[in-house]
Amino acid sequence: MPWATIHKDPVPRTTPRLRDYDEECASFSWRAARGMLQGLPGGRGLNIAHEAVDRHAASGRATAVALRCVGRDDSVTSVTYGELARSSARFAHVLRGLGIGHGDRVVTLLGRCPELFTVVLGTLKNTSVLCPLFSAFGPDPVFQRMTLGDAQVLVTTADLYRRKVAGRRGALAALRHVLIVGEGADDLPGTLPLGALMADAADTFTIPPTSPHDMALLHFTSGTTGVPKGAVHVHDAAVAHYVSASYALDLHQDDVFWCTADPGWVTGMSYGIVAPLLHGVTVVVDEGEYDARRWYRILAEQRVSVWYTAPTALRMLMRTTPRTGPYDLPRSFDLSALRFVASVGEPLNPEAVVWGRDVLGLPVHDTWWQTETGSIMIANFAGCDIRPGSMGRPLPGVEAAVLRRGEDGRAEVADGRVTVLTEPGVEGELALRPGWPSMFRGYLHDEPRSAAAFAGGWYLTGDLVRRDANGWYWFVGRADDVIKSAGHLVGPFEVESALMEHPAVAESGVIGRPDPVAGNIVKAFVTLRPGFEASSATRRGLLAFARRLLGPAVAPREIAFDQHLPHTRSGKVMRRLLRARELGLPEGDVSTLEDATSAVTSTMRTEQPA
Ligand code: WT7
Repeated sequence: MPWATIHKDPVPRTTPRLRDYDEECASFSWRAARGMLQGLPGGRGLNIAHEAVDRHAASGRATAVALRCVGRDDSVTSVTYGELARSSARFAHVLRGLGIGHGDRVVTLLGRCPELFTVVLGTLKNTSVLCPLFSAFGPDPVFQRMTLGDAQVLVTTADLYRRKVAGRRGALAALRHVLIVGEGADDLPGTLPLGALMADAADTFTIPPTSPHDMALLHFTSGTTGVPKGAVHVHDAAVAHYVSASYALDLHQDDVFWCTADPGWVTGMSYGIVAPLLHGVTVVVDEGEYDARRWYRILAEQRVSVWYTAPTALRMLMRTTPRTGPYDLPRSFDLSALRFVASVGEPLNPEAVVWGRDVLGLPVHDTWWQTETGSIMIANFAGCDIRPGSMGRPLPGVEAAVLRRGEDGRAEVADGRVTVLTEPGVEGELALRPGWPSMFRGYLHDEPRSAAAFAGGWYLTGDLVRRDANGWYWFVGRADDVIKSAGHLVGPFEVESALMEHPAVAESGVIGRPDPVAGNIVKAFVTLRPGFEASSATRRGLLAFARRLLGPAVAPREIAFDQHLPHTRSGKVMRRLLRARELGLPEGDVSTLEDATSAVTSTMRTEQPA
């Protein structure tokens, strides 16, 4: 049953940034949008950090609050735009003093703390490249990304360094400096205390000339096969961050904005740090973890007006506060400051949109984008009606299309050409016309995979969608094997490779198993080597092993033993088939199976976790 359209209040509390969709699309140009940013003084280019902090600090907003960090102990630390401008200047000097310059990679492995903002902005001021890593990654994903990204500097805490990096420090050839936030550097050979270095540094810094095309951010993402891909983003991305936060998040300068995503991922960086600071709003940062009561309390106490969160988080809240009521928990908090709620990262079920309307008093606005696009591409807008279940419509300045699929499930490319499906309601691969400023400039050191992401004048997203007759986009699924678990993208190959490091594992195939809250959980099918028993002890050992290597964000949550994994004739494990079987779906085309009969008759022994 289709869900009823949610119509917007004809007299909204705040005038929406986007009121007339068609008119805005018709009049928009990226060139004009660039004019909303200032540029470095003296025409020396465009630098994200100048636009995000120095510009505000120099124009009478130095005392405006840039950050309000809620600590795990509920303490609140406020940082003004002026303070952030000065601390990031200090960090830029620290880098320069260490001989780190233009284009050098600075990796962060940090939680959600005020220092992270200083490091991100200071790195950009120094025209070095910031590469954030998720603090819940295990040593394997950290090592791999630091290696692929040529990390010259790592900024982390003593604890994270000890647990995730120290053991392999010697193998990180490019790494020159490890800077420790907080206590503990004295006991760690080969590290430097960031606090002491900062204290000695000057608090004004002249940003060197920066080309809008200079690399600014490096975000790792996962594909179906092979090592993670480092998506390269440039300073010009700021234009798209600014525009999208205006159109899709409806940011106004007096907003208090909370993005719940971790800055170890692209959402937490683009919309937890860069975009809101570009708009000069107050950013709320929560160092703690999800807890329903805590989150409602933060929304209330911090007077959050715009909230950007994720479907998994909303589904967790829905469990504690069902739409059928009672609404005791949210009603015990004053959520009256909240005026706009949006979500991203995975399909937002229509129930969640409507739950927002009923429980928070505001429907949830779905937005769509990905690491490669750098900023929101498709969205439901503050000033427009919502069709629950739809991702919305392309932002002004964004041209999207649905492409016909070929046999492998991806867009069909013949002689370098693709076919755009114009009739409504047909499923195909979502494609975007290159030209928006935050488009990734390729995957670092990976020309083949960079080139494969484009065809026939389009960027191919890897997502399957439908567009209805009114131009709204509806998410169908992924065209490849990557897994979205709790909003985080997990590459099955990375998990399979880690499992293969265990002596008991001969082979494995990793899929996403649908889960009502997390969207998917990572599930591994494992073929054991002779001499190992398919027992719960083996399974527990494997789960623990994978968790130690990969960390909780990536490790499989379930393992099933299967001595007859289905293979293609070229010898690859057929994850698609594993998934179809897991879901009880038709097996589809199995003509590429290595041995169709053995696949059909193979028996699987699936053990559920204890
Ligand atoms: C993939 C991108 C979300 C930006 C940061 C994470 C899925 C994203 C939606 C949505 C359904 C969505 C897609 C996309 N996704 N937004 N609104 N509805 N699916 O970026 O880790 O690169 O993930 O997340 O599959 O390709 P990412």
